[in-house]
Amino acid sequence: MTDLPAPEGRLKLDIGKPHPARRYDYWLGGKDNFAADRESADAIAAAFPPIRIAARENRKFLRRVVSNLVREHAIKQFLDVGTGIPTSPNTHEVAQDIDPTARVVYVDNDPVVLCHARALLTSDPRGRTAYIDADLNHPGKILDDPALRTTLDMNQPIGLLLVAVMHFIGDNTNAGDILRKLVDALAPGSYLAITHATYDPLPEAVRRTLHQELAKPAAQHGTFRPRTRQELTELLDTLGVEPVHPGLVSTVHWHPELDPSPEVGVDEADASCYAYVARRL
Ligand SMILES: C[S@@+](CC[C@H](N)C(=O)[O-])C[C@H]1O[C@@H](n2cnc3c(N)ncnc32)[C@H](O)[C@@H]1O
Repeated sequence: MTDLPAPEGRLKLDIGKPHPARRYDYWLGGKDNFAADRESADAIAAAFPPIRIAARENRKFLRRVVSNLVREHAIKQFLDVGTGIPTSPNTHEVAQDIDPTARVVYVDNDPVVLCHARALLTSDPRGRTAYIDADLNHPGKILDDPALRTTLDMNQPIGLLLVAVMHFIGDNTNAGDILRKLVDALAPGSYLAITHATYDPLPEAVRRTLHQELAKPAAQHGTFRPRTRQELTELLDTLGVEPVHPGLVSTVHWHPELDPSPEVGVDEADASCYAYVARRL
């Protein structure tokens, strides 16, 4: 079954302003982006040349973690928040390839993602997918959405995916509240999978250049809040979850043996992103 929300007038595309979903699409080689997105993406790439590698490594983590959760932990339902413009294989394709009955609810706040959401709704008839047009800043609205309630059984374990989205939440207190609200709604035995941008492995000069580029008001890059290992540990430690091996590591070090097409010579500084998987107690 497939469900698409009514646009309700929200389908206002501000193509004059860069947006993370379209910038990420551009770095991944997609075509669903506009001049403002490409300008912002190119300026960030000038400050941090491995950004395309970082985007690919993040996407590859998403595939590995979904297949690992289905295969090794019998997870059959996913809530994928900050879904991004559809990029095959999407979460439901990875999950349903292993378990055709898998169910996935996607959430994003970019109208372009909503425009392309039909590609996320190509569920195997034995499973189910739905799309919710909502903002991660309002987790209660996501959790109360009828599409979530009719697609997922909240009394059963769920894989909560927050892949490359929490670094768009600038404030640490808000980030903590959002995480706690979402994790608290999960049944015991659920899993949380996060990736989060960091400057930790970067030389000081690169950090400075990136910081200066991202702070330029005219470039309109938008909120971006990389976090240190210490900051992330503090956020994650309050959640009532048990980390799964290997804990908080670079995306390139999260079960690289599960990657069917590893890129040679990619290191932590290329990815500049942490990955973390934990089990809800
Ligand atoms: C870098 S992309 C990641 C896409 C996908 N999760 C992946 O890792 O391949 C970040 C996504 O988060 C979405 N996003 C950013 N802030 C958001 C918010 N406050 N609420 C919902 N989605 C948001 C963007 O629209 C974009 O699609």
